[in-house]
Amino acid sequence: TTLLTPETDENAVKTAAALIRQGEVVGMPTETVYGLAANALNGEAVKKIFLAKGRPQDNPLIIHIPGPQWLPRYCEDVPPLAYTLARKFWPGPLTMVLKRSDNNAAIDLACSGLPNIAVRMPAHPVALDLIKKSGVPIVAPSANKFKSISPTTAQHVFDSLGDKVDMILDGGPCAVGVESTIIDVTGSNVVILRAGGTSKEDLEKFLNEKVPLSQGNPNQPSAPGQLLKHYAPNHPLRINAATRQPGEFFIGFGKIADCDLNLSPAGDLREAAANLFAFLRRADAAPGYMGLAMSPVPEHGLGLAINDRIRRASYKA
Ligand code: TXA
Ligand code: MG
Repeated sequence: TTLLTPETDENAVKTAAALIRQGEVVGMPTETVYGLAANALNGEAVKKIFLAKGRPQDNPLIIHIPGPQWLPRYCEDVPPLAYTLARKFWPGPLTMVLKRSDNNAAIDLACSGLPNIAVRMPAHPVALDLIKKSGVPIVAPSANKFKSISPTTAQHVFDSLGDKVDMILDGGPCAVGVESTIIDVTGSNVVILRAGGTSKEDLEKFLNEKVPLSQGNPNQPSAPGQLLKHYAPNHPLRINAATRQPGEFFIGFGKIADCDLNLSPAGDLREAAANLFAFLRRADAAPGYMGLAMSPVPEHGLGLAINDRIRRASYKA
């Protein structure tokens, strides 16, 4: 596996785009987390992604596009609201679930045969460049093994899936650090299917209405992010911990003196989100600990996404 840095290697994205067109799989930076990228229109390429992640094929993938002008290619009766939301939040960490058009059998596998399709326009310049140079819609689930911690650096991708991808584009650490917010735009009201990098408050302010967070059905999730156990470290994780217990690696938030790492000493939820997955990995890999513990994180702004991820990461089956 080669690690290429587009910032210093002007051919990196061109080479990656050629691999995508040949049906290969490439590690791609986005502003949220690193993704495993493949041509959404190539069923064989999409299959490689499910295999690499060890992800069941009934869990659909997000299609990454270069802008809202591509929506009518893959979506049926795109509601004006989708364009309104795209103008405000794209490029950025917002994924919209829309009605699929029925003339796109090629992306059947990417959508797990569902009548809906999830689309997003990422904000990372390398991701946008890769989509444009490939000229195809790109599926990109987070570049980690199914149910494990999402990657926010190229090294994370190399560590967990290095043997499964031909190339990883290094676009630096992800600025947002948690996955995109997924909203369902197929009904009369917008519903959040997964809390993420776009806050509930920002959506509500823009739409001037309440935007409920769907609980989903944990036994038959429409999104793997809804699985009770997900984003899991190897060590047990204890959340909402006031202090450390013996043998625990303690990740703090805010004014916590006695911790091993602090998500944000200033109590900034954006900073905390950007640090979350990298800190979980570091804590999990630190020698000599029996478990991990984490301070409480407030349930607003990006705190919704952070708490969602650590609840699943701490789930005991
Ligand atoms: O930020 C992100 O969204 C990252 C970066 C790489 O773009 N990608 C990501 O992909 O988080 P993944 O595969 O780890 O999560 C995609 C989520 C899943 O929970 C999936 O079930 C949901 O999107 N999804 C995809 N298509 C859907 C659909 N048609 N209806 C409902 N949920 C869908
Ligand atoms: Mg994921």
